[in-house]
Amino acid sequence: MLAPVYAPYKLVVERAEGVRLFTDKGVFLDTYSGIGVLPLGHSHPDVVRAIREKAERYTHLSNYFLDPDAPALAESLLAMTGRQGEVYFANSGAEAMEAALKAVKKNREGALVSFEGNFHGRTLGALSVTWGPAIRHPFDPLIPHCAFLPFNGEALLKFARENQIAAVFLECIQGNSGVYPLPADLAEAVNILRKERGILVVADEIQAGLGRTGRYFAYEHFGLSPDIITMGKGIGGGLPLGAAIFCEWSPFASGEHGSTFAPNPVSLAAGKATLAHITPSLLGEVARKGERLRERMELLSWARGTRGMGLMIGVSAENPGEIKKKAFERGVLLNATGGGIRLLPALTISDAEIDEVLSLLNF
Ligand SMILES: Cc1ncc(COP(=O)(O)O)c(C=O)c1O
Repeated sequence: MLAPVYAPYKLVVERAEGVRLFTDKGVFLDTYSGIGVLPLGHSHPDVVRAIREKAERYTHLSNYFLDPDAPALAESLLAMTGRQGEVYFANSGAEAMEAALKAVKKNREGALVSFEGNFHGRTLGALSVTWGPAIRHPFDPLIPHCAFLPFNGEALLKFARENQIAAVFLECIQGNSGVYPLPADLAEAVNILRKERGILVVADEIQAGLGRTGRYFAYEHFGLSPDIITMGKGIGGGLPLGAAIFCEWSPFASGEHGSTFAPNPVSLAAGKATLAHITPSLLGEVARKGERLRERMELLSWARGTRGMGLMIGVSAENPGEIKKKAFERGVLLNATGGGIRLLPALTISDAEIDEVLSLLNF
């Protein structure tokens, strides 16, 4: 039997296309693209073609062989950052965080600083910098010297006066906690400490990166210059892939970190096909469509305020569970998290599809 760690919908999905899931109980509109994993929506033809072509050649090589898509995808990711650096590929977001944590622990002494509300994954390392007593405490003790500070600059500067800091872990828009952007004074404090004290800045872009907020990376909105950028979710175009981008440094020597599977060549092909669509013009569209969707969500009778950037939107609601249930009855899949509703639709969702979602949510 399956471990009961998830509570899946009781639906049998026959196929999925764009923002639609075709199931044994009818067609559903997916407003969170497989938990933020499908920037181009379900089964985009270019991604499917890339998967098929690669799988016909090989499905796995191991890390003893170089798939040319690995350096190609690494260069594309670095080009998005506009910086030099190295890319370590992993199989998931949490694994990308493990690479970041090992790089920090190897190169800096001091506290690993995270913030109330941050989510970085469920492996023991990533969980060590993830907020939430309920999900952490059953697994204590975790990595030592992790501190959780209130999500503001004053708390960070006060902590820094009394403690040595190795790194700060940022989710520039906290996703799982309900879509809360980094306060400006926290970004300012991070920049000061990086400049004056040489702390490492880790930007977790697993959920907010790759165009979701209308920029390649969410940290760009806050004037930050991270030393490590972690990626996951969308970079495999729906297949498992993660990455840690080390900007202007090289933390690992040969043999210090690795994985049998990473990077999987089929995931790389899907990722490459996906990244080809994340263009400046798509980013402009994401910003425009996000604003339109957010403004119109605000007008729904059950909405109690909205926040977010681009197509990463949080909507407060008195009873998110009930809203999710009603939406489901009308054929819309909503994600309830952080005490509200979180929208992470495909970046390619059309205006007509947005209007269709809005009219179905108008109850
Ligand atoms: C911001 C953030 N970091 C890390 C993770 C962990 O990624 P994964 O579930 O691929 O391990 C997630 C997943 O939800 C996330 O949203």
